[in-house]
Amino acid sequence: AHHYAIVPAAGSGSRFGAEMPKQYLSLAGCPLIHHTLAALCRCPAIERVWVVLSPGDRYWPQYDWSALGAKLETVYCGGETRAQSVANGLAAAETAVADDDWVLVHDAARPCVSAAMLDALCRELADDAVGGLLAAPVADTLKRAGEGQRVQATLSRDGLWQAQTPQMFRYGVLRRSLAAFPDVTDEAGAIEAAGYAPRLVRADASNLKVTFPADLALAEMILKSRRE
Ligand code: C5P
Repeated sequence: AHHYAIVPAAGSGSRFGAEMPKQYLSLAGCPLIHHTLAALCRCPAIERVWVVLSPGDRYWPQYDWSALGAKLETVYCGGETRAQSVANGLAAAETAVADDDWVLVHDAARPCVSAAMLDALCRELADDAVGGLLAAPVADTLKRAGEGQRVQATLSRDGLWQAQTPQMFRYGVLRRSLAAFPDVTDEAGAIEAAGYAPRLVRADASNLKVTFPADLALAEMILKSRRE
């Protein structure tokens, strides 16, 4: 089976609170999403990378992406939700991808995914019928809040993992699952709703999602430490 990647990058980044969508914020000298796409384009197993932009994206054309090479395809078909953007990206890739090929769906906002993590994901799921995702065991103690923001309960973190991306699934199963269960926050959610059990592939917290300004500084430190 071949490997392809889809990068939803059509979010507005409203939680970040910047003027510009967060994927274009400057990180270690270039737009955040450049790091994300470079990691995927450098992965030898991945043959093509579709980046799903918002139809009104006026930032993308302002940069030079040629350093990323020939694997990159841009499609302006972002949707209302992340799941819709992914579904639209899967539809755009239709003619190039077969039903049992692998699709790695990776957030534009996770620039620190490493070559080792991508290798582990592809290797550990190679014989799987459906697929799985990178994830990290939960490190913090989790509280459920009740009235007046008071603790109602402390949850056991036993067996709890934080889902990350890439999430890698067979194209056909993923496309059908997302079409049937569009109200999900990640691909695995749709796959689970369709009755499958995605495999968790262990990654670590360095594969962070840039959501708030403090995450950007941390991401920069992680990228710089890898260059040393
Ligand atoms: O907002 P959040 O950080 O959860 O977004 C995760 C990823 O999904 C980001 O890369 C964002 O650009 C993308 N997204 C999208 N279309 C949307 C909403 C989010 O492609 N409508």
